[in-house]
Amino acid sequence: MNQTSVSNYDWNSSLYQEKHAFVWKYGENLLQILNPQPNERILDLGCGTGQLTAKIAGGAEVIGIDSAPEMIEQARQNYPQLKFQVADAKNFHLSQPLDAVFSNAVLHWIPQADNVINSISKSLKINGRFIAEFGGKGNVESIIKALYNALENIGVKNAPNLNLWYFPSIGEYALKLEKQGFEVTYSYLFSRSTLLQDKDAGLANWIKMFCGNFFQGLSEEQKIMVIQDVEKQLKPKLYQEGNWFADYKRIQIKAIKIG
Ligand code: BEZ
Repeated sequence: MNQTSVSNYDWNSSLYQEKHAFVWKYGENLLQILNPQPNERILDLGCGTGQLTAKIAGGAEVIGIDSAPEMIEQARQNYPQLKFQVADAKNFHLSQPLDAVFSNAVLHWIPQADNVINSISKSLKINGRFIAEFGGKGNVESIIKALYNALENIGVKNAPNLNLWYFPSIGEYALKLEKQGFEVTYSYLFSRSTLLQDKDAGLANWIKMFCGNFFQGLSEEQKIMVIQDVEKQLKPKLYQEGNWFADYKRIQIKAIKIG
């Protein structure tokens, strides 16, 4: 196992666990596509605080990896009986080949998709499967546009350069998989308007948790101004009856390693 930590983000694992539980709750649907079998060896890639790793672990042998040490520490506290390691999705090595790699709500954080697919391919047996869900083309488009506008309104000139998320189309991602010896047997791009917890504070919480990149170099006062501006722009579209909703668009993929 490659032990290097390369987390580019400063994850608050308690806030993630308490206020963003929808991240793994939605992932439960992906478990049905994974369909883990007893005695299989399965990797949960980007396991966060371990909730889905624990669900996979029914009969299978499972290991969870994440690049954020804070997440792995929390996962170990939550599930001391399971195996968790800090490792980089772009460059991990496991001692024995896997039957399946599972990944929920992680791959949009890593623009170097070819490196990730290469590591996954090397870790799988022939006929092993890769099952993933992540943000697809058009994900959180309204929030991104509102952030660019709000940043420009306070004089930030290069706002789109601050966007490091990777939200590919099905075609783009399937081609990458095929180039590295996978056969794509299932793909689905769909909208999932997602309720954000904490009523009026929902969008501000989400932005504080996930949009750190856009706030580099800003003062606390500027951050508040940006968040308030984003809320004002998005209220007509993403706020309903006291709740905020994020305009998520997801990709689900199943691919088999054939070469
Ligand atoms: C997502 O799960 O699609 C996502 C989460 C945080 C930021 C951007 C996208």
